[in-house]
Amino acid sequence: MSSGGRSNGTVEVFEQAATSYDRTGVSFFGPFGAELVRRAGIRPGERVLDVGCGRGAVLFPAAQATGPTGQVTGIDLAPAMVALTAEEVTRAGLTHVDVRVGDAQQPDFPEGSFDAVLAGLVVFLLPDPGHALRAYARLLQPAGRLAVSTFAAQDPAFVAALDALAGHLPADRPRPAPAADPFADDVAITATMAAAGLTVTAISEHRVDSRFRDVDHWMEWMWSHGGRALLRHIPADRLDAATTDAARALEPARRPGGGLTLTTAVRVTVATPHPAAEPQETSERHP
Ligand SMILES: C[S@@+](CC[C@H](N)C(=O)[O-])C[C@H]1O[C@@H](n2cnc3c(N)ncnc32)[C@H](O)[C@@H]1O
Repeated sequence: MSSGGRSNGTVEVFEQAATSYDRTGVSFFGPFGAELVRRAGIRPGERVLDVGCGRGAVLFPAAQATGPTGQVTGIDLAPAMVALTAEEVTRAGLTHVDVRVGDAQQPDFPEGSFDAVLAGLVVFLLPDPGHALRAYARLLQPAGRLAVSTFAAQDPAFVAALDALAGHLPADRPRPAPAADPFADDVAITATMAAAGLTVTAISEHRVDSRFRDVDHWMEWMWSHGGRALLRHIPADRLDAATTDAARALEPARRPGGGLTLTTAVRVTVATPHPAAEPQETSERHP
């Protein structure tokens, strides 16, 4: 079993969220996915792998960028994500796009199969991100690019609302303590990529404003993505109180005309594989 994705419950969360994932009328994954593809500089005719493709926020802009002369493969471990995205690919008539169940921890493709590997908001969910990045480096052509997006900063009101929700978790299921983040800042990212055999060529930061009608809309959005990992452990009879506390925490995000706006910053890192090691000097002595 190559991935702990199943065992740590991450994939189960996304499997349950798949129907509403990125379909709650909130601008979030779409603009970040489009930016990732832009930064990766995908060109017509290229072969692209999108790991953890979800509902296609990266996959569809990548398919547009490669055009029909290219080839885009999306993999995800949540079968419902794969099925729903594959349906949309078929509906859109994108015959150069293939979506299948596959593990982003250890994608199963021959070495050098791709011009670009794209990973939108997924590497930090994997059991061993460093190991996954090494695998991506091997999948790339020598001149290929890896483009990865990771969170740079959450809106303070969002952080406060998460804390308010977490206050309603059962005592025997506290929120996990934050682990060391290999993507915490530019220095950490550069070191993480270097350890995986990749040279960073650019790190850029992008902000997206996400608007919500009200706190109920925000909660609907929270259930539709990784936020579900927290919500599903709040006992049903505490959800109303948890929502009320979250609403209080979200007050600073209230807009004058009504509704809420939260700003999220994401980093896009582009890296290339280190050149293959030079062959060892051979001795000139001949028999
Ligand atoms: C936050 S979503 C990002 C989806 C998409 N890239 C986007 O930008 O909207 C993370 C996705 O990664 C998938 N995922 C999590 N662990 C995975 C793994 N080990 N292998 C493949 N997919 C995985 C989840 O099922 C989910 O669809």
